[in-house]
Amino acid sequence: MLHTRDLTAAYPDGPPVLHDVTLDLRHPGIHALVGPNGAGKTTLLHTLAGHLHPTSGSIHLDGRDVTGWHPTAAARAGIALAPQGRRLWPSLTVVEHFAITRPAAGRDETWTVEELLDTFPPLAARMQHRAHQLSGGEQQMLTIARALRTAPRLLLADEPTEGLAPIIADQITTVLRDLPTQGVTVLAALPHAAAAATVADTLHVLACGQLVRHTHTSAAATDALRRHLTLTHPGDEPAEPHQ
Ligand SMILES: Nc1ncnc2c1ncn2[C@@H]1O[C@H](COP(=O)(O)OP(=O)(O)O)[C@@H](O)[C@H]1O
Ligand SMILES: [Mg+2]
Repeated sequence: MLHTRDLTAAYPDGPPVLHDVTLDLRHPGIHALVGPNGAGKTTLLHTLAGHLHPTSGSIHLDGRDVTGWHPTAAARAGIALAPQGRRLWPSLTVVEHFAITRPAAGRDETWTVEELLDTFPPLAARMQHRAHQLSGGEQQMLTIARALRTAPRLLLADEPTEGLAPIIADQITTVLRDLPTQGVTVLAALPHAAAAATVADTLHVLACGQLVRHTHTSAAATDALRRHLTLTHPGDEPAEPHQ
């Protein structure tokens, strides 16, 4: 459903951050992008969502070339980003977040407020609260709910459990795991391979802006990934063949 080929990206006036990233998400499901801080996870998700223009390479969603599309056009094509750090509007209420986040122009589909509240019941009692008054878990729920409002085919979730208590993080991952049954494929940036392996169908490891490995999850794969994640540079050890 999502294919990138040799994707390279850089911030303005900066050196390349992503190097020839070729990523294939062939099946609907939940996929994890793992790697240490600074590996380029956020940069890759921002490039897929159209916030950063790739310097070379291509992005296809469901066979359609969406390379370099503006975020609005990427949203219309079915890509939504739930950003790291949540990026909510602090003084707007939950209901106002829903009201101003409309379906992407040109798309009829949307998630209704009722559907969003069914997915995130704790938000129902918080509709008139401002974003800055919400707990960290509620803010993360609102971040994902806002992204779902545009009825994406692909949800990019950047560190969706960052800073949350384990019980709240579990609630969030339970929701993410269920989204593929509702037609939403998830690509989640997660820092730790072991935790990601309990959530995701496939793991894709980024190190220094390069995709160094991808695999289906299993205990054996997780052990192998731990070794990769301890590397300081992808060239330190020959990568095992991709599966
Ligand atoms: N806005 C930015 N401008 C310039 N460089 C950036 C910016 N954001 C991130 N970087 C750099 O890009 C690299 C990858 O960062 P990032 O994508 O945030 O990694 P991750 O999400 O895996 O922690 C880092 O070297 C970081 O310093
Ligand atoms: Mg990041």
